Amino acid sequence: MQTLHTLAELRAALAGQARTAFVPTMGHLHEGHLALVHEARRRGGPVVASVFVNRLQFLPHEDYDQYPRTLARDAELLAEAGCDLLFAPSEHELYPEPQAYKVQPPAALADLLEGEFRPGFFTGVCTVVMKLFQCVQPAVAVFGQKDYQQLMVVRGMVRQFAMPVDVVGLPTVRASDGLALSSRNGYLGAVERTQAIELPLALQRLATEARDGTRPLAVLEAAAAEVLRTRGWAPDYLTVRRRSDLLPPSDAERAAGEPLVTLGAARLGATRLIDNLEF
Ligand code: PAF
Repeated sequence: MQTLHTLAELRAALAGQARTAFVPTMGHLHEGHLALVHEARRRGGPVVASVFVNRLQFLPHEDYDQYPRTLARDAELLAEAGCDLLFAPSEHELYPEPQAYKVQPPAALADLLEGEFRPGFFTGVCTVVMKLFQCVQPAVAVFGQKDYQQLMVVRGMVRQFAMPVDVVGLPTVRASDGLALSSRNGYLGAVERTQAIELPLALQRLATEARDGTRPLAVLEAAAAEVLRTRGWAPDYLTVRRRSDLLPPSDAERAAGEPLVTLGAARLGATRLIDNLEF
């Protein structure tokens, strides 16, 4: 596997290649990322992964500076997983001038849930994904469903800009106890790590109660958040939404078996975790 740091090197390496499959990441890779690389491998054509911690998608008080940067280890893991090219640009390489042109996703999708608690997050994500797509020109791009809303926002961008990229979403990879793998899990202390499973458990309970019962969703969601709060978490949201547009389902839709998803985000100590479950 070649590791390339400049756009010129990347374009030279990809010249004449068709059907490139791309896995964009922010590094500190885990099995979840490697599953994306394996899927990219299955699609045929060269596999390109990027490692770039994108400042545009962090708020000033967030963990941009602390975000783990482990490029040498990431490169080893990617090579073992069958990646052909690693694109790891510096910030100056990807943003040689202040990025004044940005991709603004629609508020109806991007200003709720993650977007409510991380204003501007999806503008930062879309802008860098658009730019990385311009650099790599992939035929296929593989994303994890753990970032459920991100996947929907990226799919919408690709559709509305008629970008010739097939966006593939892969199910969340979980640790043996059920915790969704995340680069941020490394922030958890040992006790917090054992507690962290409470987030997916809360989402499972919420899904079961939402599907089986008739109590109003707002009551179920408030109770789920309260359970986490009593265990020391600071929840941003635990909610049930339609899979189609991430808006709340009506009672009639809920009763009629509308495809739904529970999504949650909560802080445990200094670590903010997100997860979701389709049902
Ligand atoms: O999901 C991520 O790791 C990031 O949001 C992405 C898609 C690589 C853009 O920086």
